[in-house]
Amino acid sequence: MSPIYLDYNATTPVDPAVAEAMHPYIAMHYGNPSSAHAHGRTAKDAVEGARRQVAGLLGCTSEEIIFTGGGSESNNTVLKGVVYTYRHRGNHLITSAVEHPAIINPCRFLEQQGVRVTYLPVDRTGMVDPDEVRKAITPQTVLISIMHANNEVGTLQPIAEISRIARERGVLMHTDAAQSVGKIPTLVDELGVDFLSIAGHKVYAPKGIGALYIRSGVALEPLIHGAGHEFGRRAGTENVIFDVALGKACEVAQADLPRYQREVRQLRDLFQAELVKRFGDRVVVNGHPEQRLPNTLHVNFRGVIGAELLEKLPELAASTGSACHAGEIALSSVLEAMQVPSELGMGAVRFSLGRYTTREEIERAVALIERVY
Ligand SMILES: Cc1ncc(COP(=O)(O)O)c(C=O)c1O
Repeated sequence: MSPIYLDYNATTPVDPAVAEAMHPYIAMHYGNPSSAHAHGRTAKDAVEGARRQVAGLLGCTSEEIIFTGGGSESNNTVLKGVVYTYRHRGNHLITSAVEHPAIINPCRFLEQQGVRVTYLPVDRTGMVDPDEVRKAITPQTVLISIMHANNEVGTLQPIAEISRIARERGVLMHTDAAQSVGKIPTLVDELGVDFLSIAGHKVYAPKGIGALYIRSGVALEPLIHGAGHEFGRRAGTENVIFDVALGKACEVAQADLPRYQREVRQLRDLFQAELVKRFGDRVVVNGHPEQRLPNTLHVNFRGVIGAELLEKLPELAASTGSACHAGEIALSSVLEAMQVPSELGMGAVRFSLGRYTTREEIERAVALIERVY
């Protein structure tokens, strides 16, 4: 029997409807969307249809969506693009200490180029205080980039409030929504953002595809120059097969949102309640108690090392800290920023549920944990 998959924040399986939508473009329709003949038109229609599906999930127009090679590329496009495009205005960025490496590391790179970056602290739940954002803005600030949902602990940031502050001060606003898309509403106008990044493989599309929302009228120098693909914002012949996949995945995700709010949340809450019932204060739940992704349960198991606990549980596929930078026992930078004591944070395990998680799996997972902890 394959392990119970509780690592949906690391990646999701490809939804069968997504695989089915991709198939004709693998098997038959090989045209280049730039070609003027029928093969080209078929491919172009597919890409533009997919763009509309992505836009549908984000509540924007399809001209505001570009396809990218994933969440990391979307983030890099915004950070480097804004710094370059608005260099005459200023050279200061604001982000948070709990961002994914796909934000932190481009920021570090930009610091080496002379850009000033403020990494805002978070509270014990992992949340940024909008007042801290307000205080950090200077006349040199060109961009605020704060993630929508944290990949490790699932805490949701007050993006709409931060966006209002950004707008009042004439600063552009980006959110990395790789973890929130498909799990909670991610409507760009409700969030008030100018840029929003998504990653296909977190929303039941394949790895290596993503999208970036760029608010209409906002100038942004591309990361990849070349021919005029993606409205001149990202050159390279379109990845028709994967664009179609992401489009379908967004359509399915939109229909599936209520299930995340109810069924997935209920299963996560059941999981949490069962762990607390069995282990009492030997377990500590991380992240915000309410403002948290409905699928994420991040727990410190007292007195053990998370990785060692999972080694005893080959029947469970979960993560210590974050799967994107696993393999080391040091406390994750997210838990460090949340000021989780290291003897506690060492026992951290992230369980993330998804579309195919069942009650039976959760019950089995709890029983398995009880056997070894
Ligand atoms: C919050 C967040 N941003 C960005 C990424 C990177 O996305 P991708 O793997 O598509 O480059 C991830 C994936 O782990 C993520 O969790």
